[in-house]
Amino acid sequence: MSSATAIAHPNIALVKYWGKRDAALNLPAVGSISITLDTLATTTSVQFDSDLDRDTLSLDGQSSETSLGRVSACLDLLRARAGVDTRAAVSTSNNFPTGAGLASSASGFAALVTAADAALSLDLPPQTRSILARQGSGSAARSIFGGYVEMHLGKASDGSDCFAEPLLDAPDWPMTVTVAVVSKTSKKVGSTEGMELTRHTSPYYDAWVAGQSADLDEARSAIEARDFDKLAEISEHSCLKMHALAAAARPGLVYLQGPTLEAMHRVRALRASGCGVFFTIDAGPQLKAISLPEHRGQVTSALADIDGVVEILQSGLGEGARVV
Ligand code: DP6
Repeated sequence: MSSATAIAHPNIALVKYWGKRDAALNLPAVGSISITLDTLATTTSVQFDSDLDRDTLSLDGQSSETSLGRVSACLDLLRARAGVDTRAAVSTSNNFPTGAGLASSASGFAALVTAADAALSLDLPPQTRSILARQGSGSAARSIFGGYVEMHLGKASDGSDCFAEPLLDAPDWPMTVTVAVVSKTSKKVGSTEGMELTRHTSPYYDAWVAGQSADLDEARSAIEARDFDKLAEISEHSCLKMHALAAAARPGLVYLQGPTLEAMHRVRALRASGCGVFFTIDAGPQLKAISLPEHRGQVTSALADIDGVVEILQSGLGEGARVV
């Protein structure tokens, strides 16, 4: 028996990933840029045990058959590298709501790959773990690293150059992320399914793919220059563009809810009054307000009293996936 435990944090994309160029290898159609959080975390233990005849998965203390297929497929990639066939018991817990647009698949697969790598004594470099995590979930490739992270589009058809890399460490430009939680129920159309529907039916898809490289350049240079206003502008643009793209699919995907829209307006009003804050929203109704740490108090009070905001979560920027 061999086991290891790893911790990984969700990441929030500022320049969004939406769409795949190869669904089987889970290769994205666009690169992306994200920030890795610190207080929100997934802790995953993997125990390879020759007495097991199948993999098992416990998620927040409950046996989970729904996610087991994806978890097993990811473990198969690591087993193949180690040249073993041993099944594993995986136990994972999140300290935040699962499946509601808070990137639990990102921290989940980053923690899974990191724990399995250690349990099998593979000692794979972070770049390789990023490639393996990507095959579990595209955004997970970014949670291998901390701080500001870029996911490369890559060119190779086998995905060997499709991994994430750090752009800037968390302490080099501290930020606070305030999450206005609007709903804790899992989303109806998950990212994987939503992206494929968008790719096949949204009339804006080609324009989305074509515009991504300019957005990435703009965000990368804003991060390099620590230019908050520039990062705010490009991040909100990428977020709104992704939601417009998905809303134009057939049937249209509408992830925003009433309180999300109210929160968007409040964030913009705060920014107009001189507060360093902008919003981003993923495939769910939660709004994430990214602010300079000195403005966190103002942001919290503006979001907390919105009707329909059920909880406020707060986080700084943190480290990549690691064994604990
Ligand atoms: C809106 O990484 O969850 O959060 O690769 O199909 O697992 P799969 O998708 P996933 O999609 C994330 C979409 C997003 C934007 C982003 O994180 O870049």
